Amino acid sequence: MGKVHVFDHPLIQHKLTFIRDTETGTKEFRELVDEVAALMAFEITRDLTLQDVTINTPVGESTSKAIAGKKLGLVPILRAGLGMVDGILQLMPAAKVGHVGLYRDPATLEPVEYYVKLPSDVQDREFIVIDPMLATGGSAAEAITSIKKRGANNIKLMCLIGAPEGVEVVQEAHPDVDIYLASLDEKLDEKGYIVPGLGDAGDRLFGTK
Ligand code: URA
Repeated sequence: MGKVHVFDHPLIQHKLTFIRDTETGTKEFRELVDEVAALMAFEITRDLTLQDVTINTPVGESTSKAIAGKKLGLVPILRAGLGMVDGILQLMPAAKVGHVGLYRDPATLEPVEYYVKLPSDVQDREFIVIDPMLATGGSAAEAITSIKKRGANNIKLMCLIGAPEGVEVVQEAHPDVDIYLASLDEKLDEKGYIVPGLGDAGDRLFGTK
């Protein structure tokens, strides 16, 4: 079963409070989402393996550490996932960025994939699938299925806020995927919004309604 990690770092929690607040406008919302995404990326990369490298400082030779192992790939789920990409890229500018687009079939209410583009070396990358809201879990589970079908075998899921219902769906569908959140909220309401959540993440990021 994939683990759920909730980042309780004070900076993340402080900024998340302003992200949730209805008084926060689009510009500030975007900036805060980027900042929290960067802070979460800092935490999520704690387990990256290091290797020794020998370099020369201006004063002498040094055996220092550098990140080894798998290269990183970010996969935002369109469209709200886009709001977290730039923040993460500030910390890992060499990461490649794929995209997954899903829509909800009006008849079945199931997510259907309409766009997938991933880096070509899928098998050699560690992927972070990104979506601010893990609500029903349907889109996240489907996005992970899509990238697994194309060869991805090392995947993490990063969301700002999760609902217990969504966590359960992803854990059942993908027991190999750990979930990283800034908050695990109470529940979903009857319209599928996370309570207390932050409202519609896409609309708040892009100023649409
Ligand atoms: N998507 C959102 O943007 N917000 C929610 O609360 C649930 C799904």
